[in-house]
Amino acid sequence: MKLGQPRQHFAEIDSTNRVALDWHDAPHGALVWADAQTAGRGRLGRSWQSPAGKGLYFSLILRPDEPNPARFALLAGLGVARGIESVCDLPVACKWPNDILCNGRKIGGILCETQGERLIVGVGLNVTHQQDDLPDRPIFSASSLLLESGEIFPTEPLLESILSALEATFTQTNWRADYENRMWGKGEVAKSNGVLGVVDGIESDGQLRLRTADGPKKVVAGELEYI
Ligand code: BTN
Repeated sequence: MKLGQPRQHFAEIDSTNRVALDWHDAPHGALVWADAQTAGRGRLGRSWQSPAGKGLYFSLILRPDEPNPARFALLAGLGVARGIESVCDLPVACKWPNDILCNGRKIGGILCETQGERLIVGVGLNVTHQQDDLPDRPIFSASSLLLESGEIFPTEPLLESILSALEATFTQTNWRADYENRMWGKGEVAKSNGVLGVVDGIESDGQLRLRTADGPKKVVAGELEYI
C-alpha cells in the first residue's frame, strides 16, 4: 500500500484534516498537506498552531479493515517517530495517546478522525518553529526540531521519510514492543481517566495498561498525567 498518492498540496488551508474528511472519493493512502493552516485542529477541541513554512501539516486518508482511531494514533506516532529519526539525529519518544516528544518536550501530535470506513490520520510536526511561534504549555512544553537540534530540516525530505516509515509501520504486526520501547514514562506513576497506576504498556487496540493497587486496568482514551 503506497502512502502519499494521490496528493493535494495547499500553500494555506484551514485544516488538512477538514479537507481530507471532505475528499470523499479519495483512495486509500491519499495525502493532503499544507505549508500553513489557519484553523489547524488538535485533540479535544484544541487548536494546532500552524505558521507558514515552519512545520509539517498533513493528513492521510486510510481505508483499513478496522478503522480504530485509538490504535492508529499509536501506530502513526510510532511511524512518525521512526521517520523523524531516520532524517534527524534526535531521540524521539511517543507519549500515549498522541504526543510526539523530543527530550521531554512536545514537537508533534496526531489527530485521528473517522468517517464511515475512512480513517483520517492528521500529523502536525514543529520543524523550524522558534519559541515565539509555539504555544505555552504548562507541562511537556512545546518545541521544534530546530530548537532541539539547532538544525534546519527541509520539510519535503522529512515528509517523504515519515511517509515511508508510516507505510512500514501500518503493516507491521509486532509493533507493540517497539512502541513500548519508545513510550514516554513507562514504569512511572501516572493517572488517566481517574485511574492511578504505574504505566505498564499498551494494547494493540490502542488502550493504555496501568498497574494499579487493584490489579491491571485498561484506559480507552483520555489524557495521561504523570504524578
Ligand atoms: C494534538 O496534539 O492535539 C494533535 C495535533 C494534530 C495537528 C495536525 S496538523 C495536520 C492535521 N490537520 C489538522 O487540522 N490537525 C492535524
